[in-house]
Amino acid sequence: MTAASSDTTRRLGQAPDPALLDPAERLSVDELRVLQLERLQWTLRHAYANVPHYRAAFDAAGVRPEDCRELADLARFPMTGKADLRENYPFGMFAVPQDQVRRVHASSGTTGRPTVVGYTERDIDTWATVMARSIRSAGGRSGDKLHNAYGYGLFTGGLGAHYGAEKLGCTVIPVSGGMTPRQVQLITDFRPRVIMVTPSYMLTVIDEFEKQGLDPRSSSLEIGIFGAEPWSEQMRREMEERLDIQAVDIYGLSEVMGPGVAQECVETKDGLHVWEDHFYPEVIDPDTGEVLPEGERGELVLTSLSREAMPVIRYRTRDLTRLLPGTARPGMRRMEKITGRTDDMIILRGVNLFPTQIEEIVLRTAGLSPHFGLELTTSGRLDHLAVRVEARPDCPPERRDPAAREVEMAVKDTVGVRVEVAVVDPGTLARSMGKLQRITDRRQRTGS
Ligand code: DLL
Repeated sequence: MTAASSDTTRRLGQAPDPALLDPAERLSVDELRVLQLERLQWTLRHAYANVPHYRAAFDAAGVRPEDCRELADLARFPMTGKADLRENYPFGMFAVPQDQVRRVHASSGTTGRPTVVGYTERDIDTWATVMARSIRSAGGRSGDKLHNAYGYGLFTGGLGAHYGAEKLGCTVIPVSGGMTPRQVQLITDFRPRVIMVTPSYMLTVIDEFEKQGLDPRSSSLEIGIFGAEPWSEQMRREMEERLDIQAVDIYGLSEVMGPGVAQECVETKDGLHVWEDHFYPEVIDPDTGEVLPEGERGELVLTSLSREAMPVIRYRTRDLTRLLPGTARPGMRRMEKITGRTDDMIILRGVNLFPTQIEEIVLRTAGLSPHFGLELTTSGRLDHLAVRVEARPDCPPERRDPAAREVEMAVKDTVGVRVEVAVVDPGTLARSMGKLQRITDRRQRTGS
């Protein structure tokens, strides 16, 4: 082992030298609240003065930016949803003249119009700063080689990670998603220490290593920064074990910035610290819209505190989580690992079910791989959920049926509904190349 590699091994999983932290990461809660209020008041004034949508929404709710005298006053302001962004397509939510917008990104828009977001030069710098902070919190350091397999283009993952990694001082390998055999070749030849990729595509790449007869555990990778889709603690164990890495969670969404809104610290791996100097989190009851006390589960709502081109006020993310006090960065609250989105929730005969719950169970079951898909159908008047899961290559044929029955029983015991599980041959289900689509909905909608 060379001196350099033994050094990197020693620092794996350790807190960074406090001197490396951004000043904001060292603020106390009280200091942070002062900064947040000042930035929030600026954001509300900026949005009201420059975005007709916010002016109309504030007027309709009978609030003015001056009514925000403390952070709790934010709850009096109206929330913003994806529909508001769609209605103002493409550039109606921008708060600066177009010649100050340096870049746009857009969500995939699988249904209807995409949502478009814009950045000034300073916004791009802020984004790179929080992304650099995220990579450092994950254990990445200046001088590391970083393999970036998030998609480049209108999706915020690729370029967001890219600018942050450069700002931290990494050597970026801008691979983007797809061409899986080449991903394996580049990891083998370039020897990156850090990889950034969706967890589902990481699995595809790990399988490709094995297909080529290579041991993924002996790759140069030491840290994986995984996000853009929900993934469970069981999945973390699977990837840490199969790749011999530290796997940490990164969160973000294009409407609020992109990746780098919140990040798990490698030394604690206990939820994601929200970078509260730039994003103000609230958790609401998704049905009533009421703000919930810290610690209670609900829908995450985010307000940007420094964005110039496109401020967002109380954006409803649809992501379900809860807020907890900071640990590795005591000033910044954590959000619990996301269990699912309100719109990914399957309601099966009155019982709520998230794909991550199935993931946890599948991965605990001997002989089953993490590759599975969910299909919803209607039979008679009842909804029906079928789980198709691949056997691991070393799973003996006689183990398949018992494994399927074990998953059915565990879902019945823990979630309380009956699902039907079929174990299929390894390599037969479609592989993720980026964000995974787990659910196929073939339910027939009747009448209403
Ligand atoms: O997925 C930004 C991103 C890129 C985050 C790379 C992390 C890494 P969107 O395409 O706008 O942006 O999708 C945002 O993805 O509201 C969540 O539902 C989901 N999501 C993102 N990160 C996580 C995560 C990017 N760590 C939507 N865990 C969000 C669970 C996540 N879900």
